[in-house]
Formats: sequence, C-alpha cells, structure tokens
Amino acid sequence: MDFYDVLKKRHSVRAFQDKEIEKEKLEKIAAAFSLAPSAGNLQAYTVYLVKKQETKKELAEAALGQDFISQAPVTLVFCADQQQSAVKYGERGAELYAVQDATIAAAYAQLAAAAEGLGSVWVGAFDALEVSRILNLEPYHVPVAIIPLGYPAEIPKGRSRRNPKELLREI
Ligand SMILES: Cc1cc2nc3c(=O)[nH]c(=O)nc-3n(C[C@H](O)[C@H](O)[C@H](O)COP(=O)(O)O)c2cc1C
Repeated sequence: MDFYDVLKKRHSVRAFQDKEIEKEKLEKIAAAFSLAPSAGNLQAYTVYLVKKQETKKELAEAALGQDFISQAPVTLVFCADQQQSAVKYGERGAELYAVQDATIAAAYAQLAAAAEGLGSVWVGAFDALEVSRILNLEPYHVPVAIIPLGYPAEIPKGRSRRNPKELLREI
C-alpha cells in the first residue's frame, strides 16, 4: 500500500473481531517499529505483548475501564526504558529521549498495523503505576502507550484535522 494511503487509512479502532492476528503480521509490525528513529540509535524502549485475557482485562480497568482493550486479541504496551537512555544521555535521556523513542515506535506500529489491515487505537489515559504493577515492570520502564490491536469490528469515522497551514509556522 502506498505510504500516503496508509496514513489516510489509519483511524482509531475501538471495536475488534474475535479473530486471532497471524504471527507473521505481528512480526511485520515488530519489524516496522524497530525501524523507528531513536536517540543515539539506542531504541530505549521495551514493548510488552499481551494476549492473556485476564491481563488485558486488568489493563482495561487500569485505563479507566476502556473495555475494548480486553476485546482486542493482542495489546501492545510501549514502555520507555529510562535506564538505557540515561546511560548515554543522563537526565535528558531518562526524562525525554526514552519517552520519545517509545512514542515514535508506537506510532510506527500503528501505521504498520493499518498497512496489514488491522485496527488499533492509542490509549494514553491509564494509571501508570497500576499498569506497572500488572505487567511487573522494572522501575525504570515507564508505560507510554497501550495499543490494542485486532481486526476491526467497526468502520471508524475519519476525524477532521486542523488545516496543516495552522500547524506550520514559517519564520
Ligand atoms: C497521546 C494520546 C492519547 C490518547 N488516549 C486515548 C485514550 O485513552 N482512549 C482513546 O479511546 N483514544 C485515545 N487516543 C486516540 C485519539 O482520540 C485519536 O487518535 C484522535 O481522536 C484522532 O482520531 P484518529 O486516531 O481516528 O485519527 C489517544 C491518542 C493519543 C495520541
């Protein structure tokens, strides 16, 4: 699929079919996010892949009851690895670069999912401490985004956008 078509095709999907995602597709998504740029090429993030129903249910509860997280066959949790980035970049690495590394990777994953005919949604509204407890995260792994993935069970409406001219300021 043409790159610009993928960008247009990706919309948030919050209802998923009860259908497994093929292993090859998950591997392609992982290969795609591993191509994302990262500070010093450290790739200072870890992605937790959750299939277990009970864990997805707990994540949904930690995310203000957004139940579609437990409906999706797979949920990815992108976590910044503050320790890894801090080794090279100190506080800026821990506070900013690691979060940016994880964020860009998650965005790539969403685009790859769209290219594979899958739906996803970025979930940012969650209790980070609770997510850390559920996934038994290292203290230096900070959850940045929960991304449920699956075959769409809805046709998402494209959301309108601000005019790009408003977002761009030539100086
Ligand atoms: C940082 C961030 C946090 C978000 N948090 C949530 C969330 O908790 N729940 C949700 O349903 N959507 C969430 N979204 C998805 C946005 O609502 C969605 O991307 C936006 O409305 C644009 O729609 P589109 O993705 O269909 O283009 C989040 C998106 C971002 C980037």
